[in-house]
Amino acid sequence: MLARASWRKPFWSWAKDRVTAFIAEPVQGAGGVIVAPDSYWPAVQRICDKYDILLIADEVICGFGRTGNWFGSETVRIRPEIMTIAKGLSSGYAPVGGAIVSDEIARVIGSTEFNHGYTYSGHPFAATVALENLRILE
Ligand SMILES: Cc1ncc(COP(=O)(O)O)c(C=O)c1O
Repeated sequence: MLARASWRKPFWSWAKDRVTAFIAEPVQGAGGVIVAPDSYWPAVQRICDKYDILLIADEVICGFGRTGNWFGSETVRIRPEIMTIAKGLSSGYAPVGGAIVSDEIARVIGSTEFNHGYTYSGHPFAATVALENLRILE
């Protein structure tokens, strides 16, 4: 216990002004379907809230019903500011991905010149497949 406490304090005094974001899968897909211990996600959310760290959920595997809810974030009860999505969005029938962002992130991005685009952004084929897939899932 003492050994654990001894690294925590210096780590957090170093990290609190340097860590901007934390990204992870609600249930880790790589390396097996690894479910975190019950205390893990509440601690991550608490630390992110306390130190104003942006919480990003990688929902590429966990999203769209794979954990019993629409998103793995709901299953592990976190409130990410950004969720990355892909595979389940079209159930793999079309190559499509995206990011879902909180109102606050959308407001900040919308108020700056930080624009991003891809050659096939919003391509009607992928968008149509994704929408139809969501309709079937619903
Ligand atoms: C959990 C997870 N996140 C991210 C990625 C990368 O997604 P993409 O290839 O759409 O960038 C993958 C790809 O397998 C993944 O399984």
